[in-house]
Amino acid sequence: MAVPDTGAVPRHVAIIMDGNGRWAKRRLLPRFAGHKAGVDAVRRIARAARAQGIEALTLYAFSSENWRRPETEISDLMGLLRIFLRKDLAELVSDNVRLRVIGDYRRFPADLVAMIDDAVERTSTNTGPILAIALNYGAQAELVEATRRLALKVAAGEMAAEAITPEAIEGELQTNGLPPLDLVIRTSGEQRLSNFLLWQAAYAELLFVDTLWPDFDEAALADAVAEFGRRHRRFGGL
Ligand code: FPP
Repeated sequence: MAVPDTGAVPRHVAIIMDGNGRWAKRRLLPRFAGHKAGVDAVRRIARAARAQGIEALTLYAFSSENWRRPETEISDLMGLLRIFLRKDLAELVSDNVRLRVIGDYRRFPADLVAMIDDAVERTSTNTGPILAIALNYGAQAELVEATRRLALKVAAGEMAAEAITPEAIEGELQTNGLPPLDLVIRTSGEQRLSNFLLWQAAYAELLFVDTLWPDFDEAALADAVAEFGRRHRRFGGL
């Protein structure tokens, strides 16, 4: 018997957007074309997530390992991000979306850092859904940073070592303030987390789909939400 969809909507969905390169290769196009189509998918899925009542969407746009890619590809990705911020900020503002960035994006070129800061600032008084973009993000680095901050507080006598609890660690993570992560989706058939939201994914449902990111559409997101609704989440209980 098919498991019924409970209708539960995940509050926070994170997506590892994978497969842009393969999408382009299949069409005999340069990788850049795949990333460009990937940005169209970002726009489409961010809108669809809002329409489907998802409170927070976190997208893995650039990992701390992506610096290993050829310089031209890195600068193409940064260029696409600039275009996105330039073209889509007005819509995010008017749709009441709060833009957040996680990751050490300050290592990006200065003009892009300024654009990101401006975009985050201009949406900061919005009260609606959150669109979090992970830029130069790595979960291990995030946890190291959180640990260091707590260690400094302990060393300064501001905090007891016993006060280092999961909640205290969560308070130092860059996702602090976002709803608990419910669902992680990875496109393109790869089945790993690739240093994405390792702490936050502790109780998240994981969904690996074969669709390449540029082909991931509203229906694919609705399918993922329905699959989430069929999962029986036990959080360690029965
Ligand atoms: C993975 O595909 C995708 C990336 C490394 C980049 C994802 C970035 C975007 C979709 C654009 C981000 C822009 C905004 C505005 C958030 P891949 O290149 O690893 O694909 P492959 O594994 O098929 O080669």
